Amino acid sequence: MCFLCYKLNLVATYDNSQILIIEPFNSPSIIEKPYYTQEYGAIYLGDSSKLVKSFPDNYIDLILTSPPFPLGRKKEYGNESAEKYIEWFLPFAYEFKRVLTDTGSFVLDLGGTYLPGNPTRSIYQYELLVKLCKEVGFYLAQEFYHYNPARLPTPAEWVTIRRIRVKDSVNIVWWLSKTPNPCADNRKVLKPYSDSMKHLLKNGYKAKLRPSGHDISNKFQKDNQGAIPPNLLQFSNTESNTPYLKRCKKADIKPHPARFPQGFAEFFIKFLTDEGDMVLDPFAGSNTTGFVAERLQRRWISFELNEDYVIGSRYRFEETD
Ligand SMILES: C[S@@+](CC[C@H](N)C(=O)[O-])C[C@H]1O[C@@H](n2cnc3c(N)ncnc32)[C@H](O)[C@@H]1O
Repeated sequence: MCFLCYKLNLVATYDNSQILIIEPFNSPSIIEKPYYTQEYGAIYLGDSSKLVKSFPDNYIDLILTSPPFPLGRKKEYGNESAEKYIEWFLPFAYEFKRVLTDTGSFVLDLGGTYLPGNPTRSIYQYELLVKLCKEVGFYLAQEFYHYNPARLPTPAEWVTIRRIRVKDSVNIVWWLSKTPNPCADNRKVLKPYSDSMKHLLKNGYKAKLRPSGHDISNKFQKDNQGAIPPNLLQFSNTESNTPYLKRCKKADIKPHPARFPQGFAEFFIKFLTDEGDMVLDPFAGSNTTGFVAERLQRRWISFELNEDYVIGSRYRFEETD
């Protein structure tokens, strides 16, 4: 757990039944009763721009979220247009920075979009990044690309009918931090070695100069228990048989249409936090973040505006037959 987080533990405590109690620091009327709780966290139904105001400064170790992003067409949970997006998002961003610990991270997953009626892309993700860094004061720790090979080829007009654009299958992920040195440890997210690396470790490597000029020394022969992952993250959201989907179907509730793959949440939670740290998802949807945080024994808080999504998200934590 990060040092600051230890210090700030006093504002979140567990009662006898291990339910997370958020102490009423300044606005008890806003942090109301959680909609449901688990051993490590709680979800609240409401507008995160208001709920987040109840947190003290320097309280959260990781904000991992995918807000509604601007789309050429409207999604069912209402999305701001690209032109208004930055204006809509900035008030959230100031609060997110305030509540982060000095070693905390803010990981923001954003999908791209085309300009209306035009085969050119909106640059809102980059405009937002510039504002977040130059105005709000975040640092860009690193950019990631979240590749989903199962993405559909849209918009059909440009991709499958006129065939003048290719399939868009990455979201941009800005990993932002409050200071230049957020907590992070890539040893916690190592990937299995490739077959060629396994072969090299087994059979040895002749140290030599690469055509690129890099000197590949014997250090490459050290077994580090896995490969350092790249900033291109590949996860498909092809879950079709999870307790969440099964229970939604049984209860006749529509599953959330834009869920994180669990592997995506797991990567950032493991990479950027330790057990016991506090994770927030202020646009929680089906609460993938809270569910994965619970499994990884991180404390978590989620906010979601839409009650149906909150009801559905609870099914994630239930056993199914
Ligand atoms: C892209 S979805 C998040 C999906 C989520 N990552 C998951 O795995 O299910 C964004 C969510 O933000 C919610 N939302 C939009 N504005 C909000 C606000 N002001 N406060 C809380 N939730 C909000 C929407 O209802 C929607 O469910």
